[in-house]
Amino acid sequence: MLPHHIWPDTATISAGRLQIGGCDAQALAAAHGTPLYVFDEATLRRAMRAYLAAFRRQGLPFGVHYAAKALLTTALAQLVAQEGLGLDVVSGAELLVARRAGVPMAQIHFHGNARSDAELERAVAWGVGAVVVDTLDELERLATLTAGRAQPQGLMLRVAPGIEARTHRYIATGDADSKFGLPPEALDAAAQRIRASAGLRFLGLHAHIGSQLFDLERLGATVAVLVRLAARLRTRHGLTTEELSPGGGLGTPSLAEETAPDLEAYAATLSASLRQHCAAHALPLPRLTVEPGRSIVARAGVALYTVMGRKLAADGSIRYLYVDGGMADNLRPALYHARYTALLANRASAPPGPPVAVAGRYCESGDVLLRDVRLPPAHPGDLLAVATAGAYTLSMASTYNLVPRPAAVLVAAGRARLIQRRETEADVLARDVPL
Ligand SMILES: Cc1ncc(COP(=O)(O)O)c(C=O)c1O
Repeated sequence: MLPHHIWPDTATISAGRLQIGGCDAQALAAAHGTPLYVFDEATLRRAMRAYLAAFRRQGLPFGVHYAAKALLTTALAQLVAQEGLGLDVVSGAELLVARRAGVPMAQIHFHGNARSDAELERAVAWGVGAVVVDTLDELERLATLTAGRAQPQGLMLRVAPGIEARTHRYIATGDADSKFGLPPEALDAAAQRIRASAGLRFLGLHAHIGSQLFDLERLGATVAVLVRLAARLRTRHGLTTEELSPGGGLGTPSLAEETAPDLEAYAATLSASLRQHCAAHALPLPRLTVEPGRSIVARAGVALYTVMGRKLAADGSIRYLYVDGGMADNLRPALYHARYTALLANRASAPPGPPVAVAGRYCESGDVLLRDVRLPPAHPGDLLAVATAGAYTLSMASTYNLVPRPAAVLVAAGRARLIQRRETEADVLARDVPL
């Protein structure tokens, strides 16, 4: 039995072989090559629906925007649109994918702290629901390029709420010293600029305190800070907060002994905090928007790698297994010590041996995907499956060592559809210009 808080809903072991979405992992690897990222459509759709249902039960106006930075392909954005979620994007190209997928522009929030004029112009011309502004400099540019527009551009202000998330410091974004968000004391200047800009329409406030969060209390506290700031904006500047977003960040377990946060408790905590603090400040309830990324896609994705070789210790035990991918398709272990669970997809029921480390193929000592995993003693040609690999892997992938990036397939009911083709050496070299 596979722990389904780690593996996709449809993942099973049949005759010792991993199956996902009714497809045999080894057959997928044979058909598409490795490394291969396999996404389970049922898990993706269920995660999206669970978010909508949890907030619907709270009985207040809400929006769920999938955070595209966790993973974006046109097919995934199509699922997002089909399920009725909005989308958060952070670049012109992400916006392009959203449009290709038919995500309604009004359902898009465009984030960023250093966007080009061309990206902002595209967002405004295409009518995104909200441009989320992180700096006074960008607010100035946005005010200039929307001046004279008949239809004002909706905008939200992202603030650093001064709340430290309990997570790795590289994915903590809410403390006052974070690179993200306006300091609360800058809100007055921002409000004045917005009020003087006929091309801009203030929609509300946004914050995101970090990623991989399991602590609901700090998310509730973030809502409280945002409501307090919204009240200040109304009193001092007459601005009404119609929308309020405490961002995304709900954690996903990646080890069997970890527990998934309770989505119902998450929705209830945010909603209760919003209701309580709006009542205290006599503010009308704004729409509550959340932006989950990893909790939608992490568990749906399984990375398949071929074991290429081993490094043996003096006593003959396996010290390292080498696989045909690594930090260029999954930077997270090297970047912030992310941990994973793995199994041998072709011999999942064989008895495990002593713990081994799984290292990638890239020329960095930090290229170790798993440091301490118990697998059946593995040989070259075995197929390693890494769970919870859907988030911040392919979206951060590089062509380090000029290795082409992996393919991705979407599996459902025994069928695998290619959603991202494997990069070729020709793709990689296409930008290279000889003297
Ligand atoms: C502004 C914003 N919203 C949402 C997210 C999504 O976070 P997660 O994938 O942890 O849910 C991020 C991630 O960094 C973010 O920066």
